[in-house]
Amino acid sequence: MRHSERLGRIPPYLFAELERKIAAKRAAGVDVISLGIGDPDTPTNTAVVEALAAAARDPGTHQYPSNRGRAEFREAVARFYSRRFRVELDPETEIVPALGAKECIFNLNLAFLDPGTVALASDPGYPVYTGGPVLAGAEAVLLPLMPEAGFAPDFPGVAASDWQRARLMFINYPNNPTGAVAPDGVFERAVQLAREHDVLVVHDASYTETTFDGYVAPSFLETPGARETGVEVFSLSKGWSMTGWRAAAIVGNADAIESYWRLKSNIDSGMFDAVQLAAVAALELPDIPRETSAVYQRRRDLVCDALAAIGVDVAPPKGTIYIWAPVPEGHTSASYCELVLEESGVVLSPGGAYGPNGEGFFRISLTVPDDRLAEAVERLRSSLGG
Ligand SMILES: Cc1ncc(COP(=O)(O)O)c(C=O)c1O
Repeated sequence: MRHSERLGRIPPYLFAELERKIAAKRAAGVDVISLGIGDPDTPTNTAVVEALAAAARDPGTHQYPSNRGRAEFREAVARFYSRRFRVELDPETEIVPALGAKECIFNLNLAFLDPGTVALASDPGYPVYTGGPVLAGAEAVLLPLMPEAGFAPDFPGVAASDWQRARLMFINYPNNPTGAVAPDGVFERAVQLAREHDVLVVHDASYTETTFDGYVAPSFLETPGARETGVEVFSLSKGWSMTGWRAAAIVGNADAIESYWRLKSNIDSGMFDAVQLAAVAALELPDIPRETSAVYQRRRDLVCDALAAIGVDVAPPKGTIYIWAPVPEGHTSASYCELVLEESGVVLSPGGAYGPNGEGFFRISLTVPDDRLAEAVERLRSSLGG
């Protein structure tokens, strides 16, 4: 059987590789602790589960949903944006549900790219920013994040010819995998460049609700001009521990959202109405992300202390569910992660898997229960310390 040339051009999905390695170790009897995948271990709040159950009992939710989304969902997102970010959105034209941020980010590539055009993709970054353009028959041009500048994108490093071909720009703060929060001026600069080069900014806001030490993450749409030049992809996956529900929304530029909706009406049939109604309940419960952030903050401190004890220095991140740390000298990110898996049965993500600029780093995900995380860091201490 011959698969498409496009499919052949993307590397195997990072977590598929990790899952294979974990399975092999487990089959060999090793008690593997995976700090690889960022999938919250905390269950979805009971009130949200109850809202889903009640909505699912109503036969009115059982038919094809509308791809535009229910009015209740769009209005709940608008209320949330108004309360949380002081951003006023028109629920009719500036909000459409998405089946997770992943689906939305991928499909934006299909809606906006053609062969010969490119998407600028934060590097290191969420792998869909680079795989999506390739699957859409286009290309990704890497937009390096600079550690010395708080992981701001190296905008001046983008060649004039790439600006000419660019139609999309993927940025993401708080950032996976680096944990960086939006450096001052980055959103403003993105708006300016987007105007200058006619590029749609796609701000991936998957982690705005997971922040620490009193830091409150902004929405890209708070930036003057953002609504004219960009969209934001907001997800309930991480903040509300709802990764399995596939509940997200695209908000912002009405024309871009119209294109996304047109594309999607040819691909899927929308978000299950009962999930939309459960998401409405979730969005009215802002304490959920606050409480979840407190759990991750505690875990972040545990991991940063343990890393310091084995000689790995990291600045504690102000957001996300990840710790991003340099590998010890003499290692590549892959060789260090292999070593840690061998020596301690702990799975880390090699930074190089998030793009060439991730090389030399590894990522720890904080999404395992406290006792397992404590055990993992103890193993790192005893097998790699000293
Ligand atoms: C930066 C980033 N964007 C998007 C996603 C996918 O989110 P969702 O579950 O909403 O599809 C993730 C998941 O890890 C992520 O880290």
